[in-house]
Amino acid sequence: MTHPHLDLAPSAWVQRWIPLVRPGGEVLDVAAGAGRHARLLARMGFEVDAVDRDASLFADPPPQVRVLQADLEAGAWPYEGRKFDAIVVTNYLHRPLLPVLVDSLERGGMLVYETFAQGNEKFGKPSNPEFLLAPGELLEAVSGRLRVLAFEDLVVAEPRPAAIQRLAARRE
Ligand SMILES: C[S@@+](CC[C@H](N)C(=O)[O-])C[C@H]1O[C@@H](n2cnc3c(N)ncnc32)[C@H](O)[C@@H]1O
Repeated sequence: MTHPHLDLAPSAWVQRWIPLVRPGGEVLDVAAGAGRHARLLARMGFEVDAVDRDASLFADPPPQVRVLQADLEAGAWPYEGRKFDAIVVTNYLHRPLLPVLVDSLERGGMLVYETFAQGNEKFGKPSNPEFLLAPGELLEAVSGRLRVLAFEDLVVAEPRPAAIQRLAARRE
């Protein structure tokens, strides 16, 4: 397997916060990969859009999931004008997208984000600073725009040792 991360179980952080999303709402999984969160969201009764630059990673998507292949770092934002009840991003960072994601939330919509932070280079990949959040960066990205329900900036042991930040925030 060339992408070991694609075999992971759903993130505990995503599982913790998704129950606060409007039941039956529309949820976007950004850089969805093999779709571990899109599948979970579909099982929970949400209408799911999943986007990745390589749609072939997402094998046999369930009928509640619309998979879109798009390069989020090259072309225009593919969901212009759409508003979501939640946006989930895990293990992916493209800084210019952060304000776009905030703008793409419905009132009451949740941003659930978890990705690698500075210090992760001690544990392995990603180690390129472009893909690692600076201390507090995720919190600052939503400051004044979303109500932050929870933010963590720490080293975790599971599913493997990593420096991460994670955020759950709501558009009021
Ligand atoms: C580490 S994987 C995370 C996948 C998934 N979010 C998860 O946590 O299981 C990063 C994903 O970002 C996608 N990706 C990287 N650059 C991208 C881009 N420019 N546009 C869209 N997706 C991209 C990759 O194809 C890959 O599926």
